[in-house]
Amino acid sequence: MENTNSENVLNFYNSISKQYSESVKRCVPFYEEMLESIFLFLPESFIPKNILELGSGTGNLTKLIIKNFPSANITAVDISQECIEECKSLISFPVNYIKADFKEINFPENSFDLIVSSISIHHINDKEKQILLSKLFNCQTINGIFSFCDQFSAETKEIYLKYISEWKKYALSQGSSDEEWNMWMQHQNNHDYHSTLENHNNWLKETGYKNVDCTKRHLLWTTIFAQKL
Ligand SMILES: C[S@@+](CC[C@H](N)C(=O)[O-])C[C@H]1O[C@@H](n2cnc3c(N)ncnc32)[C@H](O)[C@@H]1O
Repeated sequence: MENTNSENVLNFYNSISKQYSESVKRCVPFYEEMLESIFLFLPESFIPKNILELGSGTGNLTKLIIKNFPSANITAVDISQECIEECKSLISFPVNYIKADFKEINFPENSFDLIVSSISIHHINDKEKQILLSKLFNCQTINGIFSFCDQFSAETKEIYLKYISEWKKYALSQGSSDEEWNMWMQHQNNHDYHSTLENHNNWLKETGYKNVDCTKRHLLWTTIFAQKL
């Protein structure tokens, strides 16, 4: 089931790689502000040398990493070769691209000062998320920071459904068609695992992360900051 899901995710993103960036800007409320929020709470003195991005897609967050930390070595992991190719065509900066399922890879200890991700980790299930978090913790430097945004569920079904209906209103108001909305909903039903903010906080703390905080939230979209030390 898990590998089938990864394969489905990869086929989906391969098929939409060319239209992804435009579609996501129409369909995700305050998308650009959300990406910016990943960097907002990094201490000014924190200058990461090695950065890992999970689920880099067509490079919208990668561009911001480069803007914020032009001297860093960037490793970007994505399961979709088509998305990686699209990213390469848009970004001339040298990035170490790895085409892989991020739940399958193991980096050595002390590999990364900063790990970032945007709307990608919800493609794996809750058990896999917990294993992934533990692997991320282990490959971070002692002063490492993990800052990411993703789609989370809600504490109640009613609130979750309200999030979805507000999301739909937003997407349609931005010019999204019913067809595009239905495509994302079908993708969500087929491949997504939304979990609560509380679960994410608990998993991060159980893993060993400190100073775990939600630094931004709007409907499903939530930004989390966590430090290793
Ligand atoms: C919604 S897109 C986000 C892309 C980009 N981070 C952004 O914010 O626009 C999700 C990305 O995660 C990648 N992805 C999903 N599951 C993955 C996995 N298990 N391993 C590696 N990449 C994965 C997809 O191929 C896709 O490019």
